[in-house]
Amino acid sequence: MDHQKLLASVTLLFLLFIANPVRSDLTADKQALLAFAAAIPHGRKLNWSSNTPVCSLWVGVRCAPDQSRVISLRLPGVGLLGPIPANTLGKLDALQVLSLRSNGLASNIPPDVPSIPSLHSLFLQHNNLSGDIPNLLTPNLTFFDVSYNSFIGEIPLEIQNLTHLTALYLQNNSLSGSIPDLKLPKLKHLNLSFNNLSGHIPISLQIFPKESFLGNSFLCGPPLDQCPGTPSPSPAPTTQPHHKRSFWKKLGIKVIIAIAAGGLALLLLLVIVLLLCILRRRDREDYRSSKGKGIAGSRGEKPIEEYSSGVQESEKNKLVFFEGCSYHFDLEDLLRASAEVLGKGSYGTTYKAVLEDGTTVVVKRLKEVVVGKKDFEQQMEMIGKIGQHPNIAPLRAYYYSKDEKLLVYDYVPSGSFSAMLHGNRSNGKPPLDWDSRVKISLAAARGIAHIHAEGGGRFAHGNIKSSNVLLTQELDACVIDFGLAPIMSTAASPSRVVVGYRAPETIETKKVTQKSDVYSFGVLLLEMLTGKAPIQSPGRDDVVDLPRWVQSVVREEWTAEVFDVELMRHQTIEEELVQVLQIAMACVARVPDQRPKIEEVIRMIEEFRQSDSENRPSSEKSKDSVSPTP
Ligand SMILES: *[C@@H]1O[C@H](CO)[C@@H](O)[C@H](O)[C@H]1NC(C)=O
Ligand SMILES: *[C@@H]1O[C@H](CO)[C@@H](O)[C@H](O)[C@H]1NC(C)=O
Ligand SMILES: *[C@@H]1O[C@H](CO)[C@@H](O)[C@H](O)[C@H]1NC(C)=O
Ligand SMILES: *[C@@H]1O[C@H](CO)[C@@H](O)[C@H](O)[C@H]1NC(C)=O
Ligand SMILES: *[C@@H]1O[C@H](CO)[C@@H](O)[C@H](O)[C@H]1NC(C)=O
Ligand SMILES: *[C@@H]1O[C@H](CO)[C@@H](O)[C@H](O)[C@H]1NC(C)=O
Ligand SMILES: *[C@@H]1O[C@H](CO)[C@@H](O)[C@H](O)[C@H]1NC(C)=O
Repeated sequence: MDHQKLLASVTLLFLLFIANPVRSDLTADKQALLAFAAAIPHGRKLNWSSNTPVCSLWVGVRCAPDQSRVISLRLPGVGLLGPIPANTLGKLDALQVLSLRSNGLASNIPPDVPSIPSLHSLFLQHNNLSGDIPNLLTPNLTFFDVSYNSFIGEIPLEIQNLTHLTALYLQNNSLSGSIPDLKLPKLKHLNLSFNNLSGHIPISLQIFPKESFLGNSFLCGPPLDQCPGTPSPSPAPTTQPHHKRSFWKKLGIKVIIAIAAGGLALLLLLVIVLLLCILRRRDREDYRSSKGKGIAGSRGEKPIEEYSSGVQESEKNKLVFFEGCSYHFDLEDLLRASAEVLGKGSYGTTYKAVLEDGTTVVVKRLKEVVVGKKDFEQQMEMIGKIGQHPNIAPLRAYYYSKDEKLLVYDYVPSGSFSAMLHGNRSNGKPPLDWDSRVKISLAAARGIAHIHAEGGGRFAHGNIKSSNVLLTQELDACVIDFGLAPIMSTAASPSRVVVGYRAPETIETKKVTQKSDVYSFGVLLLEMLTGKAPIQSPGRDDVVDLPRWVQSVVREEWTAEVFDVELMRHQTIEEELVQVLQIAMACVARVPDQRPKIEEVIRMIEEFRQSDSENRPSSEKSKDSVSPTP
């Protein structure tokens, strides 16, 4: 008896240990993955082994940046066969992206998988899954693709509750019954084609083109044909084209009259007026078709066909790539990519987009663009041309439509200067040492200098800040966001971060210049010297005016108090810190003309670097300044 008691308490202890959430989460994820691999036959070998690290060496697995949990599993086309085993993947409760598309999966989806709370993208297309579409779906789901399978039954009503859903792909299954009235405000992509759905298409979904509903022989109503036996359709859709044709006829007569009158000049005038009218009309319709789809469609003001017409179709695919760019994807692919917010800036939100083929890019979604298409395109051409410099992130592609403006950049995995300076020090990464900081700031300055030198000195960057300086693994830096200031609304209230970098004169004039770039760069230098961001942590309201704060400390007493404590651990560099501090203070002079040119800033930094490397073995030093503090 005693023996058993002892055993029980040992087991309990063991369980407690295992259940300890901090230590064992990744271990639990690993166990779940191994259990999955063991339970399902797969054609291609998965190189998952219990003695290699999950996050770095397991094919298809990605972890959170702090390596604490598995957040993405992508195993497309690896020959998985048979049912998805229950109680395996469902245990990955930090999983955000699951892609098992193009395999030989069969049978039902176990309910624990689509209900993983953190899951936002689920790709199971091109398998032979069957049974009902699962109705236990996590409310966070934004991308749901189970197309090209053998699902039967009805579209579950529960989909109605997925308020974040942007894409629903159910085509090429054997679904039946009527389509529920899905009022999903964010739904952008819908495909229900080639099923056995029947009945009316609900009003909420009539905004989608008929390609979303093909191949369902018992489905009817706009955008498909009218349902049989419905009272005569509202007159607008049928009379409209008629009206248009007679309009043209009338014009034809007018033209003939004009010719008959022999007024050649009049004719010319008429043609010009006509052209203008058509152009204006086109513009308006274009606008409506992208902006007011829903309203127009359901009110029956306009025939639905118009919205899936050629204009829109050609517009849809116009993702413009720059020369020398090796990407192969189109807008559709981009929109289907799983996206993760990298940051919200004053110009819009930046996403990391992982395409289905694994290509990763950065997509910037601009808000408050104030210029028209032509000016926008010109500016993009300019950015594409000027931005050819190792310290400027190249713009790869852009997209412009009335309601969406996207920019595509390369993805740089290491993150921004800002993140490296202020990032979480508890995650075990050593603080950036002084040599690296100087190297990064110099690289950024070279990027800015290139912009300032081009176009006869006409250009400024306009948005220099540490989060706009990206770093590679080797700490090569490049600046992003160049060239956007002129096309963005200046009325947009700048975020508190931007305010911290803004030259005083631009706050009134809203006009960025090369001098204001130098000011912002000076703030960036102060930031790397002091380790303080020109903005306080979230939750605290006061913007730190770094220049003013440094001035106040320094004026009282030329002390080392301003410098980052991480740098001050190494007394030998204090002299350099003071030198850079002086350069920085020159950059943030209140009077624009007193600020040096960026070229001079580079020269000054390079100068002391040279004298410096003669005096000390810098590689040795930088090494021990990197060593993490106990
Ligand atoms: C598994 O394969 C991936 C991709 O092919 C590779 O990066 C990784 O190093 C491999 N892991 C092991 C342990 O061999
Ligand atoms: C749902 O998504 C939001 C943001 O996308 C996230 O903050 C939240 O933690 C997610 N919910 C769960 C249960 O993971
Ligand atoms: C798909 O699964 C069904 C049974 O659910 C089976 O009859 C059919 O042969 C399978 N198709 C393929 C291509 O494996
Ligand atoms: C949707 O969510 C609401 C509230 O959470 C719940 O009452 C309702 O039953 C859900 N509807 C469906 C169809 O699941
Ligand atoms: C989808 O279904 C349609 C109609 O049955 C068929 O023509 C098409 O080939 C199917 N597509 C695929 C990829 O199976
Ligand atoms: C499709 O649905 C109709 C009823 O809506 C039914 O009569 C028919 O048998 C179904 N066809 C298939 C192939 O399931
Ligand atoms: C839906 O899928 C079918 C093929 O299965 C395709 O023909 C159709 O164009 C798709 N519709 C949309 C809106 O993408």
